[in-house]
Amino acid sequence: MADVYDKVMELAKRRGFVWPSSEIYGSVAGLIDYGPLGAMMKRKIENLWRDYYVAREGYFEIECPTVGEEAIYIASGHVKGFADKMVQCPHCKEYHRADHVCEAHNIEHAETKTLGELTEILRNLPCPACGKTFDGAEAHYFNLMFHTTIGPGSQRTGYLRPETAQGIFTDFGRLLRFYRDKLPFGTVQIGKSYRNEISPRQGMIRLREFTQAEAEIFVHPQHKEHPNFGRYADRVVPLRGIKQQENDEEPVAITIGEAVKSGIVANEYVGYYIALTHDFLIACGADPARIRFRQHLPDERAHYATDCWDAEVLSARFGWVEVVGIADRTDYDLKAHAAQSGDSFTAFIPYDEEKKVREMKIVADMGALGPKFKGKAKAVAELLAASKPTENGAEIVLDGEKILIPPELYKVREQETVIRGEEVRPHVIEPSYGIDRILYSVLEHAFDEEDVDGETRTVLRISKKIAPVQVAVLPLMSRDGLDTIALELMAEIQDEGLIAQYDDSGAIGRRYRRQDEIGTPFAVTVDYDTKEDNTVTLRERDSMKQIRIPKDHLAETLRQLIRGKVAFENL
Ligand code: GAP
Repeated sequence: MADVYDKVMELAKRRGFVWPSSEIYGSVAGLIDYGPLGAMMKRKIENLWRDYYVAREGYFEIECPTVGEEAIYIASGHVKGFADKMVQCPHCKEYHRADHVCEAHNIEHAETKTLGELTEILRNLPCPACGKTFDGAEAHYFNLMFHTTIGPGSQRTGYLRPETAQGIFTDFGRLLRFYRDKLPFGTVQIGKSYRNEISPRQGMIRLREFTQAEAEIFVHPQHKEHPNFGRYADRVVPLRGIKQQENDEEPVAITIGEAVKSGIVANEYVGYYIALTHDFLIACGADPARIRFRQHLPDERAHYATDCWDAEVLSARFGWVEVVGIADRTDYDLKAHAAQSGDSFTAFIPYDEEKKVREMKIVADMGALGPKFKGKAKAVAELLAASKPTENGAEIVLDGEKILIPPELYKVREQETVIRGEEVRPHVIEPSYGIDRILYSVLEHAFDEEDVDGETRTVLRISKKIAPVQVAVLPLMSRDGLDTIALELMAEIQDEGLIAQYDDSGAIGRRYRRQDEIGTPFAVTVDYDTKEDNTVTLRERDSMKQIRIPKDHLAETLRQLIRGKVAFENL
């Protein structure tokens, strides 16, 4: 029997949300095309995300190339460590994620097991493709990055980016100047990321090309208080912390203020973005009862991250699916790029009040240094100025050699230095969203079938904010001037910036069903009464209720309804 996944995907393909890419050539697992409705819905999710992060948080968006040179990914650690554990069936030669095969057989924490442990467990497990055991096969690493070369002659190694984040990290210096050298600041990027997943057999959940919306927020390491924490402090969120997971307990419903205060969540920034994500997912139309936040266990958390939470959404087919990751990545990324590039990746943070310190400073005696060091005397003088005097002399490193300069070759004077601030390497707070997974989850949660007058009505109860078509315009007949009035109304609705679809084919009941199935929240019908009294029928998708309103107010009323400024039942 078809489960909701099959039904959603059948509808998605048939009505133009999403379908396999290059179907005529057999298609490739993990690559999908968004059809007209899917592309529209995806854009709306992205724009809603921009409302939260760009408009409300004030984090400007940048756009970096999807292909990047090797140095970026050596620094980030992806070249060395961005790999999944893979096993090839010795019989049918099919490749599989070694940990996924184990998980399907209820082996706990398979993701954190070593290659040796996985090989040992797999010996007795059957291959999901052919059913014979993996005995004789060894688990090994497979790097998930797509490799390429940049330019014809150079054969310079490049990679398709596995996350959008690295572009923001490498631009840190320029972004810091853009934000007038002040912390905190945030930058976001929405775009394609690529991972050569080993066996992507989970529809839109595991793709080889997918869209991420990532925010990288650079904060002072000692100040992880979000300036607008109060906005979400009282929001209740379902948290499945380390304790609940260890005790196999359900998530606790707790305010984010309390979660931060009690130390369940590491700091206000992480807490703030957990709450914001909760708000965002619900605004997209995910069912609040099927959302939870799961904390990474110490053995699954990246070694550099101090805290990490996944927003998970419950899918009937796939169970709890991670759709967003929220992490405090500390200074790991900036430190890594500093080491690789030689740039400092720090911000100069002025003190509230300047500090004055008295220091013993060395002043070289050129008359004494000249005869001894000749051509290198100037370099020695400069090195001495930066070194500390001791009783026995001052140590410098000249041409890689340590030299102790005796006290008779320099003078020491007490000087006052004014220190205006300090160089700080910011920490990064990162909420990272997978747009495709969110879109699929919303479709699954919105999908509904109900009995109406003995017939099954399929309806996508998608949020008005992200429905691909917002209004259907339906002339009862495409004659007698009804079509002309409907087309005029259509133009007025479009002028309000709404996405409308004109449909004049078939019985009106069928046309309503077609719109219900793609989640259109409102339908407008022009009938013979319209010609008499200038009113039209306005129908709401979810309740199927219909009211008559003056056609002159229609476009404005629809705009208010879709923006949530007025409720249908109050019209
Ligand atoms: N910069 C951090 C980062 O990339 P991630 O947890 O690997 O973290 C973030 O990815 C989000 O991207 C995930 O929560 C998920 O929604 C999405 N994502 C990751 N791999 C994906 C894939 N193969 N297909 C679809 N979405 C994916």
